[in-house]
Amino acid sequence: VAKTKCDIALFGAQGDLALRKLFPALYQLDKANLLAPQLRVLGLARSPIDQENFLETVRIHLCKFIAANEIDEIALARFLARLFYIEIDFTDGNAYHTLHDKLCETNNPLVCYFATPAAIYGEICQNLSNAGCIDNHTRIVLEKPIGYDLASSKKINDAVAQHFAEEQIYRIDHYLGKETVQNLIALRFANSLFGSQWDHNHIDHIEITVAETIGIEHRWGYFDRAGQLRDMVQNHLLQLLCLIAMDPPNDLSADSIRDEKVKVLKALKPIDTHSLNHDVIRGQYCAGSVQGQLAPGYLEEPEGKDSQSCTETFVAIKAQICNWRWANVPFYLRTGKRMTEKLSQIIIHFKRPPHYIFAPEQRDIAENKLIIRLQPDEGISLQVLTKDQGLEKGMRLKPGPLKLNFSDTFHTQRIPDAYERLFLEVIQGSQYLFVRRDEIEYAWVWCDQIINGWQSQNTRPQKYPAGSWGPVSSIAMITRDGKSWHEDSA
Ligand code: BG6
Repeated sequence: VAKTKCDIALFGAQGDLALRKLFPALYQLDKANLLAPQLRVLGLARSPIDQENFLETVRIHLCKFIAANEIDEIALARFLARLFYIEIDFTDGNAYHTLHDKLCETNNPLVCYFATPAAIYGEICQNLSNAGCIDNHTRIVLEKPIGYDLASSKKINDAVAQHFAEEQIYRIDHYLGKETVQNLIALRFANSLFGSQWDHNHIDHIEITVAETIGIEHRWGYFDRAGQLRDMVQNHLLQLLCLIAMDPPNDLSADSIRDEKVKVLKALKPIDTHSLNHDVIRGQYCAGSVQGQLAPGYLEEPEGKDSQSCTETFVAIKAQICNWRWANVPFYLRTGKRMTEKLSQIIIHFKRPPHYIFAPEQRDIAENKLIIRLQPDEGISLQVLTKDQGLEKGMRLKPGPLKLNFSDTFHTQRIPDAYERLFLEVIQGSQYLFVRRDEIEYAWVWCDQIINGWQSQNTRPQKYPAGSWGPVSSIAMITRDGKSWHEDSA
């Protein structure tokens, strides 16, 4: 991998994301010898701390969030030597001269990473521009959520677009940086076996589950305004859906892939009032127990500020893609906080054979399923039907898995965190794992209908106990269609 020199200006360097994810990711890249020797990381934040305190804070968090056996003292010292702290109020245009002076020391190409509220992205861009910090080669990385709905998202994108061309803007959806999510592209387009089966002729339905055991942690302020639909569906689940449903791109270039994803988003069937009532389930956890630990309900969370909040912590949606390939193939999406286990998986349910020659009572045994496990235990498993072993069994069918577990098969030591991959791509100037403006906006168009529908109906989310798979109505939604959620995580 070519090592590209640059300065990374990290806005929000004292924030949770930077300390928990961004510095550890950069450290891992440095340890793997993937950073150019001249690369510097300029940490920008408001806190009145000095360089020494900053380095100490970063060091403490690296040791907290990286396994002890992955901390290498030499790599750690090398990494810390790249860091420089700049105290700055992002909204004060006069404060940017310190950053400008620092950048002039090297004239390295600049990457600005905004780990700040999106509402000030425009203002930061303006201030960077006024202070002469940016040029046509500067790249900026924008964290999600970009906006709260289509209108606010457009406003933010417009403000940023005044200073940067689309080719300079890297919008993060960290799911795209996960190794297994990138593997969806390899699985689909490097294996003709699947390519030829990937449509309504062969696939009955598709499930996408992203379940988490955590609640809202210390993010009540953000989460209660956002809810699970904005937090997870508008971005991560729709991105997964796009990668599963898109047509083959002409090549691996960023725009070829993004063009295909946009076509899927545009083809999503609108959610009208009927679909809202039948095909969308909104849930909120109440007290329960998650993996043996008692958990309070959402409304009783210690940080909670609104005991009447209607914010959803779970969503299940039966989505349809109105195009030739996916005619009448439902996509069942579900995601929630405080669920039974942490699990992200995609299940492709294939149709049964057109003519059935086995014992009629075995007809319902199972169909072929392709189970793509994104996390944990990353891997792929294809459920096939075989003859049950034994003389006395006759022609009895039995389902069994053809399994590929990535860590066992490839002896993977560690799977890189999504942010490591994403940093590497930004540094190298490749946008294929980042989200284009029109993708974000079409995703908002679809989600806004659901949010507006909920608001106008003024109903409360349905309760589900913490530690369960969501409200019973989400099970009813799929069983009504004669199907069931795949809950066997093996
Ligand atoms: C983030 C959401 O984008 O993704 C969080 O804001 C969520 O609420 C997280 O917990 C899940 O990411 P991962 O990588 O743990 O599946």
